[in-house]
Amino acid sequence: MTPQIETAGLGFVYPDGTRALEGVDLRIGSGELVAIIGQNGSGKSTLVRHFNGLLRATEGTVSVGGMPVARRHVAELARTVGVVFQNPDRQIFAGSVRREVEFGAGNLGYRGADLARRVTDALALVGLGDAVRHNPYDLGFSRRKLLAMASVLAMGTSAVVLDEPTTGQDARGVDRVRAIVRSLVD
Ligand SMILES: Nc1ncnc2c1ncn2[C@@H]1O[C@H](COP(=O)(O)OP(=O)(O)OP(=O)(O)O)[C@@H](O)[C@H]1O
Ligand SMILES: [Mg+2]
Repeated sequence: MTPQIETAGLGFVYPDGTRALEGVDLRIGSGELVAIIGQNGSGKSTLVRHFNGLLRATEGTVSVGGMPVARRHVAELARTVGVVFQNPDRQIFAGSVRREVEFGAGNLGYRGADLARRVTDALALVGLGDAVRHNPYDLGFSRRKLLAMASVLAMGTSAVVLDEPTTGQDARGVDRVRAIVRSLVD
């Protein structure tokens, strides 16, 4: 099985000299569900930001679909790996829930009825089907987090990374995240 995401000897040092990753070897295959667990500041977010090229390794390699990300453009990687940020407010920018979810899928070239269906399905999956006209910032934190998730789900990428998806969710929200993950794996 070709690993969907693979790192070998991955190291990363931030520009200010902070070493966040050292010698990370990881293989994630198609259809696999992987949880990355670690203390605050252990480098989880730094690691996953390498999967879609938001960060570029300072040591070692990262491959997606068998191809090194160093040789791929961020725009092209965005088609393959969707990353839902830990902080939704670093992701959300549109004036309405619908436009927010349309943006990423629209960027990938989806249009018309196909785009509308993707947006509707993603919003239904995260339970925001009744909020399409809302301003994202009128939603509470937990629903903004679900909105950020819907934006990535609508893109239909073959890999989806959820960074701390249950932060700020109540029991119902956690159940919802669980159901979303299950449907992705299915
Ligand atoms: N932009 C940055 N510049 C410098 N250092 C950073 C930057 N972002 C993160 N770090 C540092 O890199 C290390 C790893 O941080 P990272 O956010 O990847 O950890 P994490 O496991 O996701 O933490 P958390 O559980 O709090 O989300 C930490 O020491 C952090 O302070
Ligand atoms: Mg983090």
